[in-house]
Amino acid sequence: MAMVCLSDFEAYAKKYLPKIAWDFFAAGADDCSTRDENILAYKRIHFRPRMLQDVSMIHTRTKLLGTEISFPVGIAPTGFHQLAWPDGEKSTARAARTMNTCYIASTYSTCTLEEISAAAPGGLRWFQLYIHRNRAVSQQLVQRAAAAGFQGLVLTADLPYTGKRRDDVRNGFCLPPHMKLKNLEGAFEVCKISLLDPSVTWNDIYWLRSLTHLPIIIKGILTKEDAELAVRHGVQGIIVSNHGGRQLDGGPATIDALVEVVDAVQGRVEVYLDGGIRKGSDVLKALALGAKCVFIGRPALWGLAYKGEEGLQDLLRILQDEFRLSMALAGCSSVSEIGRHLVQVSKL
Ligand code: FNR
Repeated sequence: MAMVCLSDFEAYAKKYLPKIAWDFFAAGADDCSTRDENILAYKRIHFRPRMLQDVSMIHTRTKLLGTEISFPVGIAPTGFHQLAWPDGEKSTARAARTMNTCYIASTYSTCTLEEISAAAPGGLRWFQLYIHRNRAVSQQLVQRAAAAGFQGLVLTADLPYTGKRRDDVRNGFCLPPHMKLKNLEGAFEVCKISLLDPSVTWNDIYWLRSLTHLPIIIKGILTKEDAELAVRHGVQGIIVSNHGGRQLDGGPATIDALVEVVDAVQGRVEVYLDGGIRKGSDVLKALALGAKCVFIGRPALWGLAYKGEEGLQDLLRILQDEFRLSMALAGCSSVSEIGRHLVQVSKL
């Protein structure tokens, strides 16, 4: 099967993954309006491409909080990579390092932080944190992440409770007994994900700050009010995200929320986006609207399901090639030339 675009990997994963794993990866909340909107919204945004700009050399590299990456697409945190490939997150880390981009490892990884780090020494990695009712568990994770060489801490803000994902309820989704939430072993049993702390507030960012010198990036912001609060509480980055439409159904597509957040932040911190990125031209649209970088969630899992580390590399390479081509066809030869002038903002 020739893999030409990300949908080819999706079709492969759907065909070959066990149904319960596919359903878990694909799930959105309720009737999946927001999950689907994340993708549809890109189709409503149109370019204003410029011609005759000498696009004989195209540079896709950029920087994430000062660290250079080869192109502005990283890997969003998703749990349970061993459901997609036996080596799980170790393969993800290796693929991200080979492609010289950032991998955000989830609290709900099926390999430990230390295993992930050892699998791809020197790779750019951030650690995603869910705050647990037992704060000592979270504190330990933050300290382990820093000790294992993770370079950023991503606090996910949009999951005080897990959204209602109908297929997971129908399937009675639970990790198979031979897989473990290895970072939390001993802290609680595998299916008790409800041990997350729903009482978390903005003040807890100060608590996190007291635990680590790592930059803090907050994930799950969709409004200018929360963007302002995030900046005021001293975060270094904001990920505009609706958790891939898996939490509150009926919220905006992330690409539609991006401009509001970018305008509120006014360059004080870096703004990123995830949700619905499926083509190089989606990446270009998100950058044109002010994202410094985007992250892919489900597509990374499809890449792993296809051929592990190699499959994920193939997928990232396709996305990078598509992004490079979109830049060229829009008249940009470097990422710094991408701006709002490239899209028809009046129609947003
Ligand atoms: C997620 N997401 C997520 N986010 C997070 O902060 N911690 C996590 O453990 C997970 N786990 C997770 C599992 C699966 C199967 C999915 C699909 C998503 C959300 C993820 O980081 C990201 O926000 C979305 O996946 C982005 O949307 P796309 O790229 O999947 O459309």
